[in-house]
Parts: sequence; structure tokens; C-alpha cells
Amino acid sequence: MQLLKESILSRGRVVGKDILKVDEFLNHQLDIKLLNEIGKEFKKKFNGKEINKILTIEASGIAIASIAAQYFDVPVVFAKKVDSKNLDKDTYETEVYSFTKARNYTVRVSKKFLNKEDNILILDDFLANGRASLGLIDLVNQSGARVSGIGIVIEKGFQEGGSIIRSKGITLESLAIIKEFKNGVPIFK
Ligand code: G4P
Ligand code: NA
Ligand code: NA
Repeated sequence: MQLLKESILSRGRVVGKDILKVDEFLNHQLDIKLLNEIGKEFKKKFNGKEINKILTIEASGIAIASIAAQYFDVPVVFAKKVDSKNLDKDTYETEVYSFTKARNYTVRVSKKFLNKEDNILILDDFLANGRASLGLIDLVNQSGARVSGIGIVIEKGFQEGGSIIRSKGITLESLAIIKEFKNGVPIFK
């Protein structure tokens, strides 16, 4: 997606060896025009797939999923990372390992929001090692629903997430795939 790649090049910033900061437009300040184009692009990529619900994970996935959902005309469910008193006791749960935080955390979705009739599109901002996406796939599997596909805004192609998910035969569409960072500049696949 050209507009996304241009935004990454002009407004993103490479930090250290393998982190791309996109807080100017994607996961802190939000560029709503760009998010709308991202939503339309996901709709194009998954056109013809049966999808009645979008699943994402807090926090950064929520904005992307919510705007995309308007083009699919379906509800959004976001998995919770933080346990709360108000969350139902009856939840699907999975453990996700975070490489950036070097620890496991529990991710939950209330059982009433994932059903075996559902065809789910999983959306997220980044795909790195794939642990968040694998956790969401696990939640969908526990509910008996199907994963219709996974849409990612930025895939870091030099980390293993993309190949793990594709090797499962799941349709994975990433709007920008970064092959490497060369002298602090993202190089797209
Ligand atoms: P994984 O799910 O692909 O295995 O990701 P990993 O553990 O490597 O990364 C954990 C968090 O860091 C995720 O957000 C992920 O979206 C984010 N992340 C990974 N690589 C990058 C990057 O290059 N740039 C940015 N900006 N974020 C990256 P999270 O902790 O779940 O947080 P949230 O922001 O959604 O709350
Ligand atoms: Na995320
Ligand atoms: Na993030």
C-alpha cells in the first residue's frame, strides 16, 4: 500500500536494530485519513471472504480495527490484556509471550463475544514474532469459530511471525512488509 509506505518513510523512525516507531500516525497520534485508507485496503484484500466479526487486541489494534470495521459493516471485539473487575468470569484465555517486555501476559475475551458460527478477521498494527496473532488464533479456536484471515498493517518480515502464520495455511495480508532496516531506513519487500 503506497500511501502507507510513504508515511512509514516520511514519518516513521527506526529505533535501535529492529523497532519502527510510528507513533506519529499509527499507534499514539492517529492519522484518521490514513486509517480510513488502511480500512478500505483491508476490505479489498479480504473481499469475498466470509467475515462477520473483527477481532483485535488492545491497545493499538483497536483504532485500526474500528475504522476498518466500517467498511466491513461488522462489530469489533478486542481481546483484553488487563484483567478487570468488570470483565465476565466466563472468558476464553490464552498466554502470550511479549519479547519487548520479556514476560507472559494473559489475554482474554468474554465467551459471549466469540461463537462457533463466527467467521473472524483478525487485525493488528504490527506483526513481529507473531505471539499476539497466535494468541488471538487460539482464542478463536477455543470458541469453535473460524479464522477467515489475518490483516496486518506493518509486518516485520525479518522476524518469524509471518512465516509461522503462513505455514498454518491462514490467509495473511500485510499492507507493508519490511524486509530489513538499512542504515536506519526501512526497506520494503
Ligand atoms: P509479536 O506479537 O508479533 O510477537 O510481537 P512482540 O512481542 O515482538 O511485540 C510486542 C508489542 O510490540 C506489540 O504491541 C507489537 O505490536 C509491538 N511491536 C513489535 N514490533 C514493533 C515495532 O517495530 N514498532 C512498534 N511501534 N511496535 C512494535 P503491544 O505491546 O501488544 O502493545 P500495544 O501498543 O498494542 O498496546
Ligand atoms: Na498491537
Ligand atoms: Na503496539
